[in-house]
Amino acid sequence: MSIKFIEEHKVFKLDARDTSYIIAIVDEERFLGHVYFGKKIIDNNINHLLRLEEPPYVPSKNNRDRVSFYDSFPTEYSTHGIGDFRESCLRVKDKNGHTACRLQYSSHKIYKGKKSLKGLPSTFGDDNSCTSLEITCLDNDLNLEVVLLYSVFEELDVITRSVRIKNCSKDEVFLTKVLSTCIDFDGINYDMISLHGSWARERHISRKKISYGKHSVSTIRGESSHQDNPFIALLDNSATDESGNVYGFNFVYSGNFFTQVEGCQFDTTRVVMGINPEDFSWKLKENEEFVAPEVVMVYSDKGIGKMTRTFHDLYRNHLIRGQFKDKKRPILINNWEATYFDFNTEKLLSIAKEASELGIEMLVMDDGWFGKRNSDNSSLGDWVVNTEKIEGGLKNLVDEVNNLGMEFGIWIEPEMISPNSDLYREHPDWCIHIEGRTPALCREQYVLDLSRKEIVDYIYESIKKVLSSANITYVKWDMNRQLTDLGSIVIPSEQHGEIFHRYVLSVYDMMNRLTTDFPYILLENCSGGGARFDPGMLYYSPQIWCSDDTDAIERLKIQEGTSMVYPLSAIGAHVSDCPNHTVGRTTPFETRGYVALAGTFGYELDVTKIPEEDRKMIPDQIAMYHKFNDLVRTGDYYRIENFSKNNSFDCWAVVSKDKSEVLVTCIQVLGRPNHHSRRIKLKGLLESKMYVNEETNEVLSGGALMYSGINVSLYGDYSGKLIYFKLA
Ligand code: DGJ
Repeated sequence: MSIKFIEEHKVFKLDARDTSYIIAIVDEERFLGHVYFGKKIIDNNINHLLRLEEPPYVPSKNNRDRVSFYDSFPTEYSTHGIGDFRESCLRVKDKNGHTACRLQYSSHKIYKGKKSLKGLPSTFGDDNSCTSLEITCLDNDLNLEVVLLYSVFEELDVITRSVRIKNCSKDEVFLTKVLSTCIDFDGINYDMISLHGSWARERHISRKKISYGKHSVSTIRGESSHQDNPFIALLDNSATDESGNVYGFNFVYSGNFFTQVEGCQFDTTRVVMGINPEDFSWKLKENEEFVAPEVVMVYSDKGIGKMTRTFHDLYRNHLIRGQFKDKKRPILINNWEATYFDFNTEKLLSIAKEASELGIEMLVMDDGWFGKRNSDNSSLGDWVVNTEKIEGGLKNLVDEVNNLGMEFGIWIEPEMISPNSDLYREHPDWCIHIEGRTPALCREQYVLDLSRKEIVDYIYESIKKVLSSANITYVKWDMNRQLTDLGSIVIPSEQHGEIFHRYVLSVYDMMNRLTTDFPYILLENCSGGGARFDPGMLYYSPQIWCSDDTDAIERLKIQEGTSMVYPLSAIGAHVSDCPNHTVGRTTPFETRGYVALAGTFGYELDVTKIPEEDRKMIPDQIAMYHKFNDLVRTGDYYRIENFSKNNSFDCWAVVSKDKSEVLVTCIQVLGRPNHHSRRIKLKGLLESKMYVNEETNEVLSGGALMYSGINVSLYGDYSGKLIYFKLA
C-alpha cells in the first residue's frame, strides 16, 4: 500500500513514485499537522520538523499562547477564526453568525482504489493504480464533520486532495469558504508560475519571484477563464525545465477558483487552492454534505518538464474518458473562419466536397445553423434548425456529407439565451438576473439560470433532439460570456451564494447526460476560444478549443503555456487562412500545419477559396498528421527552446514512451542574417542507442543528439521544420 498509518508516530505516509507526503496527528488535542511534501524519503518519523518542542509550544505545554501555536503550526487544513491568521481553507457561519471552527482528528480509513466525487469531475484509478486515505476531523462545538480526502497515484508523482463536509447538528450552517487543499512549505524563497492571458492570448506563462505577503490567482467570472487558469506551480528559484523542485497544483473545476501563495512571518510559504470564496456560500441542513472539487498536486524533483509529463500522463490515463481517450481523432474542417454566419447547405457541401477529396474526414458546422441566427445578436436557446439556411433540413445535409465519406459535427452553446429569441420571449425569467435590474449583455446574450432543473431539462432535451435527428458524431460545446448580475427567482436570498457553484454543477450534469446518451460523439469544449481549458472539462471532453487566435506565431506562446499542464491530445488546434483573421499576419502554410500538429489538428478555412499552392499542400499535411499523431498524442513532451523567452525561435519534441522515435518541431519566428543554423539539444533519448534522421539518413547516438546537439538551419521569418529520428 502506498499509504500507511504508522501508529507509533501517529503519522500518515503517502508515497508516490518519487514523492512522499507526510501528515502527523500531534498532541493530546489531536491536531493534524503537515510535515512534508517532496522527494521520496524512507523515514517514518520526521515529526521534529513540526517544532513542537520550540516556543510557542503546543497548547498542552503552553496554553497561555494557544493563538501563537495556531498561527505558526503547519496545519493540514486551516480553519478560520481561531488564531491561524494565514489564509484559511474553511469558514463556517453558524445560526448565531459566528465563524470560528476548530478541527481535531477523529478517525481515518485507508483503502485501495479511488472513489469519485458526487456530481463533480475527478481523476480516477483502480486498485492497482491508486490508494486513498480519508481522515475524519470534527468540530465538536459545531457538530461538523470534515473529511480530508487523499489519493496517491503510485506510478506517477501525483497526490490528489479534496474535502467532504457534513453538518451533523440539528441547526443549519452556512459554509462561506471551502478550499480543497492547504500546504505549508518551509522557506519563502520560491518562484511561482501561473498561466495568464486574455481572449485570443490564453495561458501565457508568467513566472515571478514571491516573498512575504499574498500572491493570488483567481477568477470570479463563473468560468475558469481566459485570464487565469486554475493552475499554479511553486518552484525553487533556480528550477529550470530539467532541474529543481517543482510543485504543480491544478484545480479540477470549471468555475470560480482561488489559489494563493503566501509568504508568512516565520519564513514558511502556504499554498491554498479551491472554490473562490467570493460570492460563495452553501447552506447545509442537518445531515447534508458538501463535496469540494479536487486539486491535483504533482511533485517533480527534476524541473518543470517532469511536472508537465506527469500531468500529461495523469490526464491521458486517469481523467479523460470515453472512446476517443486513446484514439486518433478525425481531421475536421470547421466553417467558422471560412464563412462565419454566412453559410447555407450549398456552401457547406461545396466545402465538404473539396475537403473530402483532400483527405479531410469531418465537416463541423459552427455557429449560425439554428433559429434566425445570422449574426451573434439572436436565437440562442432556439435549438431548431434554420431551414432557410440549411435547405432540406439537417438530416439531409448530414447524409450528403456522409455520402462524401465524411463525418459531421455541430456547434452548440446550450448555456445561453439571446434576448432576441423565442425562448426569451416565452421565458424572460429564465436568464440569470436580479429582479428589477436589467442584466448586462455580453455578446448580446444572457446566461441561462442553470440552477433551475426545469431549464436544464428543457435545454438538454432540445439539444438531444437535434443530436438524435441525424448522424452527428462530434459536438463543439461553446460558452461565450461570463456570469454577471447573479440572481435567480427560485433561490432564496440566504442561498444566493450557491448560484455560481450550482451553475457549474448543472453544466457538468448536462455534459454527463450528453456523454452518456451519445457515447459515440466526440465532444470538444470551447469557451470563446480557450476560457474553459481546465481539468474539469477534460473529464467530459477529450479535447478543448485552445484559442480563437489561430495565427501560428501567436499560438506558439498559447500552446506552450497550455501544454505545460495539459496533454497535446487535448489541445484544439487548426490550420487557418492568411492574413490571419485575428492578427493580420501571413505565415507559410507549412508552418501553420506544424503548429496545429502539436494539438488535435484540423482546418478552419474555406478550402474552396484558399490559394491553390496552399490547397495542394493539404494531402501532404494530412499524411503528416496520420504518420505522427500516435506519437504526438501519446508520447513524452519536451521543451527545447522557448520563443516566449528568446523572442525568435521555438522548439519542442515528442519522444515515444519506448524512446524509439522522436519528432522535433522547430519554428523560426525571426530569421537571422548570418549563422543561419541554430544548435538544438534533444532530451529524453537513450544515450547509447543510435538514431537515424529519416530525412538525411544521418545516424547519431542519443547522447550526441542530447549533449552535443544538432544544427538546424531555417531561412526566413515564420519558417518551420519537422525533424524525425527513430532507432537505427
Ligand atoms: C467562439 C469560438 O471560440 C469560435 O470558434 C466560434 O465557435 C464562435 N464562438 C462562434 O460563435
